[in-house]
Amino acid sequence: MTIPPNLSALPPGFVVLRSALDDVSLVLADTAADAAWARTDHSVLTEQEINYSLEFDPELATTWAAGRVVLRHVLGSVLDCDPGSIEIRLDIAGKPRVTDCEFSVTRAQRLVLVAVAADPVGVDLEAIPEDSVAAEAAALLHSRERDELAQLEGRELAESFVRVWARKEAFLKALSTGLARDPGMDYIGAAGSPQSPHPDVDIVDVVNGIPAGYSAALAVNR
Ligand SMILES: CC(C)(COP(=O)(O)OP(=O)(O)OC[C@H]1O[C@@H](n2cnc3c(N)ncnc32)[C@H](O)[C@@H]1OP(=O)(O)O)[C@@H](O)C(=O)NCCC(=O)NCCS
Repeated sequence: MTIPPNLSALPPGFVVLRSALDDVSLVLADTAADAAWARTDHSVLTEQEINYSLEFDPELATTWAAGRVVLRHVLGSVLDCDPGSIEIRLDIAGKPRVTDCEFSVTRAQRLVLVAVAADPVGVDLEAIPEDSVAAEAAALLHSRERDELAQLEGRELAESFVRVWARKEAFLKALSTGLARDPGMDYIGAAGSPQSPHPDVDIVDVVNGIPAGYSAALAVNR
């Protein structure tokens, strides 16, 4: 068993979550509540990150920057170093990476969720969408997943859709492809527990600590 990366003192408002993958450290920050400071204190961001965020509209810029602030503080805690000094580079697939650990970050509205592990990891957090959005986006899933959802409607459909979508994005992030790999290619399943399409990848739902109205999943590629 691999030991999860150790987290030294975390900033205010950061909450360590438990998941079924005990070799992954998982941290949630609510940037509209106890971690609201992450929306305004950009002292750990590089000039390049600040300029990048300014390419978005103001709301998206604030959300992106807050996510990067949270990520830098979590990595600083794991690597026991100044969060502002960590070199984060993009790989060829657009996945941000650091030298000494594997990580994944996801933002959903005010929430930021970060996973850190020794092996490539993927985490996804999604707000449950409008019923009509879920019905339309379900077309992107694997044919067997579409069949599973076809029996549902309304909120039940939206909740099941977002559960499988979070599982899928976590899986695709752990593979490091992101959505460059067709989300309709792999069957993970909408019901019960996620079914991993790959023997080296474990996928779990994250339930503990996730507020109502959101769905989250975590994957690790061993
Ligand atoms: C990565 C991706 C799955 C993100 O999904 P999302 O729900 O919009 O956003 P999330 O907040 O959950 O995740 C964003 C994070 O994913 C990570 N990410 C980006 N590319 C990644 C990849 N190839 N593998 C793993 N993680 C990746 C980044 O850390 C990013 O945060 P950052 O902008 O601070 O660096 C998706 O946007 C993607 O695959 N993009 C690249 C490929 C693409 O654009 N294809 C065409 C779209 S149809």
